[in-house]
Amino acid sequence: MAGAGGVALAQAAQSGGALGSLPCATLSPSALESDLKTLNEASIGPLNVNFFTHSPQPDSPNAQQQWQTSLSDAYKTWGIDPNLSVSGAARSPFNDALCTLIEATPPAVVSFHFGLPEPALVERVKAAGCQVWSSATTVAEARWLADNGADAIIAQGFEAGGHRGLFLDPLTGAEIETDEVGFIAHQVGTLSLVPQIVDAVSVPVIAAGGIADGRGMAAALALGASAVQIGTAFLLTAEATITTMHRDALLSGSAEKTALTNVFSGKPARSAVNEVMRTHGPMSTRVPAFPTAAAALAPLKAAAEAEAKADFSSLWSGQSANLAVKLIQENQTKHQTPSASDLVQWIANDARRVSASCQTF
Ligand SMILES: Cc1cc2nc3c(=O)[nH]c(=O)nc-3n(C[C@H](O)[C@H](O)[C@H](O)COP(=O)(O)O)c2cc1C
Repeated sequence: MAGAGGVALAQAAQSGGALGSLPCATLSPSALESDLKTLNEASIGPLNVNFFTHSPQPDSPNAQQQWQTSLSDAYKTWGIDPNLSVSGAARSPFNDALCTLIEATPPAVVSFHFGLPEPALVERVKAAGCQVWSSATTVAEARWLADNGADAIIAQGFEAGGHRGLFLDPLTGAEIETDEVGFIAHQVGTLSLVPQIVDAVSVPVIAAGGIADGRGMAAALALGASAVQIGTAFLLTAEATITTMHRDALLSGSAEKTALTNVFSGKPARSAVNEVMRTHGPMSTRVPAFPTAAAALAPLKAAAEAEAKADFSSLWSGQSANLAVKLIQENQTKHQTPSASDLVQWIANDARRVSASCQTF
């Protein structure tokens, strides 16, 4: 979960018995090298290292200007010059330099979001001894990934928090060049997606999206998944690196209202609904390409956050945040933020209980 966790979260998940994940979409090569060294030396358990594989779009000053003009009222409200020159966080797709670092310290798994990198890079990752996993949001994407070398498919249902791994045009099957707003209407929920992907490919399937307690995990395994991938629930753990505002939004129950939005980055992602999503989205045709939409929001985000307001901040959340809050309340013995290690075990124990009770059917 890029921006929401790092080495500490990966290690705590490993300690609980899960495959720990290191998100690298926003890491510099030197930060990645250092994090891989730390995780490798600690050697607590198997590691997944995750990258984005988007195709960077050429700069479009016109699109940026259009987006900034849309936000001009907000700029004025927050005392910011609407003509301010803006820049936002860069996100590098997986490339030769990052692959070289993976080859030097190979993790068990390298996973990708938004498809796969070019075939030569996939081959290098495999030759280094890593499994290659990637997210599919449709059955067609799952088939494409399996045909192009994925060793396992993460079936990412519509309920999932954060960015959709969407990378094929849902109508034509072509690799997408631009993130059409209408694509999102074709996305599929976890209950429907998982068994259809299980039937369509011969590699293992990992269910993701809306799983936040043992009921979801047991259901996903009953649908034929070999494992589950959980994101949102881990935002509530001590090792998550989200802001207090983000954590409060999840804990307050307001994450009952989430929506898929492109306003934060240019690509559709699920967030708890806030001011900028209400005013300009949740999906907008005036947003520039991923990841450049973040640039025009950056000064507004900084100004609002300085007043403890999350009006312009992404509050990534899946649709089941409240299930995680409930699970934590039921299991914690003291009123303190649980470790990701505890959460892994609570969810697994809960899944065993649910699974045992289902056997009486
Ligand atoms: C805060 C946050 C950040 C995420 N960042 C990434 C990421 O960097 N790479 C990725 O492959 N998936 C990312 N995801 C998606 C998760 O991998 C996963 O598909 C999703 O969280 C599962 O659904 P859930 O949130 O309902 O548990 C992110 C999800 C969240 C909530």
